[in-house]
Amino acid sequence: MQKEFQHITLSPLTPHIGAEITRVNLAEPISAEMLREINEALLLHLVIFFRDQSLNPRQMYAAACQFGAPTPYPFVSGIDDFPEIIEVLKLPDEKENFGGVWHSDTSYLPSPTMGALLYAKQIPASGGDTLFSNMYLAYESLSPGLQKMLSSLRAISNADKSAISQSRINRKSHTPKDLRAIHPVIRTHPETKRKLLYINRAHTTHFEGMSIAESKDLLEHLYQIQASAEFSCRFRWSQGSVAFWDNRACQHYPLNDYAGHRRLMHRISLAGDVPY
Ligand code: SIN
Repeated sequence: MQKEFQHITLSPLTPHIGAEITRVNLAEPISAEMLREINEALLLHLVIFFRDQSLNPRQMYAAACQFGAPTPYPFVSGIDDFPEIIEVLKLPDEKENFGGVWHSDTSYLPSPTMGALLYAKQIPASGGDTLFSNMYLAYESLSPGLQKMLSSLRAISNADKSAISQSRINRKSHTPKDLRAIHPVIRTHPETKRKLLYINRAHTTHFEGMSIAESKDLLEHLYQIQASAEFSCRFRWSQGSVAFWDNRACQHYPLNDYAGHRRLMHRISLAGDVPY
């Protein structure tokens, strides 16, 4: 049964992931009761969407501070006066889009981000949707035998895996060397305490103690499960939409199907903790 909220109105995009929330103006301070409900909605739906928002950088930063601690993104400089807000911009003549592979943000850091807010400033008339997928369900869909085996493994994430580093061409402001971290393949969400599958196509290179070649087939099998349509939702942006995703529990994939058009978003990451 769907949870009842008092201070927000929530409409799920699918039964498993994604919900649109109304009655919230992110440009203004949010009451403690409303904030509690938004955070609850995020934990239940993994990614939540607010439409028709109007946010200057200061308001976006203030909104993000209510949900967590803004933190800079390692590969792109922030906009003037707001180092934590980056532009996600694709120009009409550019080929690659930013982050255009299924991924979990910054899994190459010892403490990957807990989430991010993405605000649509200019979007194509059609195209440029973003897909999100539920990593609890990816884990729960595995056989008990595979769940058990994966529970004893850790995997290496590398910022420069070619799948993703291509998508940052022309966007790097500085290139920190060797950003790499090792995390459990099965992670426990620090708030819900549910287990989830924590590898991703963009950054994971191999299992600890195995070679890249040895890891490849199993990782590919898991990436395909993670991208299952049944575990996913697809968000169609309009100008002023904001997405807020729980980066610990879901992955996302921005589609690159709008050649010849400009798409501009503002994005802010929130600090996370060490996966266990
Ligand atoms: C990202 O991966 O943060 C970008 C998402 C998008 O542009 O929709």
